[in-house]
Amino acid sequence: MPVRPSEFIRLASRPRLVLVMCGLPARGKTHIALRISRYLSWLGYRTRHFNVGTYRRTRLGSQKRHEFFDPRNPEAREARRDVAMAALSDLCDWFREGGEVGIYDATNSVRSRRDAVRARCENEGLAVVFIESICEDEALVAANIRQTKLHMPDYAGMDPDAAVADFRARIAHYASVYEPVAKDEGAYIKLIDAGRELLAHQIQGYVPSRLVSFLMNLHLVPRSIYMTRHGQSEFNKQRKIGGDSPLSPQGEEFSARLRDYMIAEVPSNELMVWTSTLQRTIHTAARIERPTTEWRELDEIDAGECDGMTYEEIQTRMPREFTARTEDKFGYRYPRGESYRDILRRLDRVIVEVERERSPVLIVGHQAVLRALYAYFMDKPTRDCPFLEIPLHTVFKLTPTPYGCDEERIVLGPIIAKGESVTLP
Ligand code: F6P
Repeated sequence: MPVRPSEFIRLASRPRLVLVMCGLPARGKTHIALRISRYLSWLGYRTRHFNVGTYRRTRLGSQKRHEFFDPRNPEAREARRDVAMAALSDLCDWFREGGEVGIYDATNSVRSRRDAVRARCENEGLAVVFIESICEDEALVAANIRQTKLHMPDYAGMDPDAAVADFRARIAHYASVYEPVAKDEGAYIKLIDAGRELLAHQIQGYVPSRLVSFLMNLHLVPRSIYMTRHGQSEFNKQRKIGGDSPLSPQGEEFSARLRDYMIAEVPSNELMVWTSTLQRTIHTAARIERPTTEWRELDEIDAGECDGMTYEEIQTRMPREFTARTEDKFGYRYPRGESYRDILRRLDRVIVEVERERSPVLIVGHQAVLRALYAYFMDKPTRDCPFLEIPLHTVFKLTPTPYGCDEERIVLGPIIAKGESVTLP
């Protein structure tokens, strides 16, 4: 069957990209790989993370001591090579099933291994970018060992100091043969000290370029991101969608409670407040009196010709539109308005900025945009995002951790009676 022009554009623009992580142990490779995977999945690419450490633990057992990683141990070297190649084969199979970005997470610390990985990928028609993490700051390495390595199944039940000593011996084995990625190996991004410096070499194309800008903004400074919808608005009370209505008395009450909560949470001046350009978010945040930025990107989903209607009115007056949205809530675009897919695209800039920000941030937004942001932080499939529950008068406190994000929900009230908030019938 001939390919229609629109399909051709879609197929032609699909990436087939392998990101090959490189670096000594405890350089944050898995952390970076998971962050990339979450970001690219959220942008809509079929992305998968292949962690060779997990293959090794599953196939060879988890309790391996440092001798197993000694390059002078030929049997162990063979066994490690076999699991690495098994993971690579699975990655190649997954591309045959339609994968778009595969992240191959291993030390890949010597040239011969990287050459083998690249040759295999290129043979399958896959582009390769090496992502090398280098830590010159010893404190970062020590913190990483304590925060992540001691919790690995490899060291379950072991004395923490003995575990650290064993892990350091493992690093020394890798360091004895380590060869940094060289210019003649093709495209690479080198990240030095978790974002202090970044080198990009032969980076071309949309996805690798997006990645450079994303990685340039990552950091490890601990801080929380607070997200809440605006206080109840007059439109919420009337069960109407969209618009730019003021807060109801309950919404004002929430705004006062939000101020008390945020000031207690972040007493210093470092809190940044972000709102949309709609008055219900601006007024909700106004009492906090901290530097506030209004973002058009944070405006609620544009309901186009349905703006200002209730869901019941849409169902009666525009039944075909109503059914189309029920059948595909993620892809459905309101007439002259937006879809969830559209708002994800416009929120990309907010994601990069929030990653860059080192201070705690409070985002006062709207139901649909917060669903999209929540899906990013909590690594939820984007197709599920129209159905995530983001109730009014509730603060979501999200705290990034090495391998994900912790979540706390703080219900500040006032509680909205049934029928006084808008939810899809
Ligand atoms: O009801 C409040 C609201 O923010 C509307 O303005 C918006 O159209 C709606 O929520 C988005 O939620 P859903 O996608 O479930 O209709």
